[in-house]
Amino acid sequence: TQVDKGGYKHFMAKEIFEQPSVLSNALGHYLGEDDTVVLPGDNVDFSKVDRLTMVACGTAYYACFTAKYWFEKLARLPVEVDIASEFRYREPPIVKGTTALFVSQSGETADTLAALRYCKDKADRIVSVVNVPESSIARESDLALPIHAGVEVGVASTKAFTCQLNVLLMLALKAAQDRGTMTPDAIRDAIGQLRALPGILNAAMDRDRTLAAAALKLSESRDVLFLGRGLMYPLALEGALKLKEISYIHAEAYASGELKHGPIALIDKTVPVVVMAPKDSLFDKTVSNMQEVMARGGKVLLITDAAGAEIAGPDVWQTVIMPKVPEIISPLLYALPAQLLAYHTAAAKGTDVDQPRNLAKSVTVE
Ligand code: G6P
Repeated sequence: TQVDKGGYKHFMAKEIFEQPSVLSNALGHYLGEDDTVVLPGDNVDFSKVDRLTMVACGTAYYACFTAKYWFEKLARLPVEVDIASEFRYREPPIVKGTTALFVSQSGETADTLAALRYCKDKADRIVSVVNVPESSIARESDLALPIHAGVEVGVASTKAFTCQLNVLLMLALKAAQDRGTMTPDAIRDAIGQLRALPGILNAAMDRDRTLAAAALKLSESRDVLFLGRGLMYPLALEGALKLKEISYIHAEAYASGELKHGPIALIDKTVPVVVMAPKDSLFDKTVSNMQEVMARGGKVLLITDAAGAEIAGPDVWQTVIMPKVPEIISPLLYALPAQLLAYHTAAAKGTDVDQPRNLAKSVTVE
């Protein structure tokens, strides 16, 4: 398929900005009448699933890691997540009642495919979440769920990530529906929130200028630390991955609660700390972690909502205020500032945003 940059300077920018429309279309493929979740293809009855094993690489792995929080919290389903290259050689025991789920944009990642083959005669069912329906991973699965992101050209995955999250959240809601852990009304509410998301994402696009200004400062640093808790922890990992991939700035992410157990030793005024923290149930804990950073001269770039910004106060180095959304859909919204921050930092440094050095879009060899 021939795709162009649609007036943007880079494919990555185009792919970031098309997320509202792509997500809105993608969601439609998973909705039944009266806002229930309907999977394309064979149905999976999650009341008969005891355990989920999710395996992927790179950004797709962080989508799985986010989904672990959803499946556990919404559907009370035990989930194991792993990186494909570790999983495949560890020979993990797959117990009866396990559904194995593989997430891959390309559907051709060698380690993910090998992990899938390992599970074939061991798991009850092989499900994949892919962007390319005719890919090897899709073909070798019992059920392949398309994410409908359209062709993604930028090596750093953006719209495929949010579309993976979209399908995984729909799957978690389906699991909650089947297992009776959420009422039909609560499920309809959650779907209503997902329906509203593209509009909210569109409105959030004007944060682009604030994020570009923040990125200009980030582009001068050698190391950047990302912090998040709960659903924002996998997001912090994804933010750090995006930044290092395309700007070549060393970035790492920690669960905010682990700060004391190591990374706090790195804090000084030269290391910006990006804190991803909407005002959710864990916000107060994150604020105290942030204060520990600031007390040591650390510069905090806080990505939050209006209520969070008010509590965090004026001592924060820079604050980016996002729209308020319900906690469960926050990863889909907060992916946007993580992507834009990386994008503008790389653009400020003048690196090859769409084709970063040493990286490939699809890693089909081990
Ligand atoms: C490569 C790409 C990443 C991607 C990862 C997994 O490293 O550069 O953007 O997340 O592979 O790819 P997949 O196609 O399996 O999602």
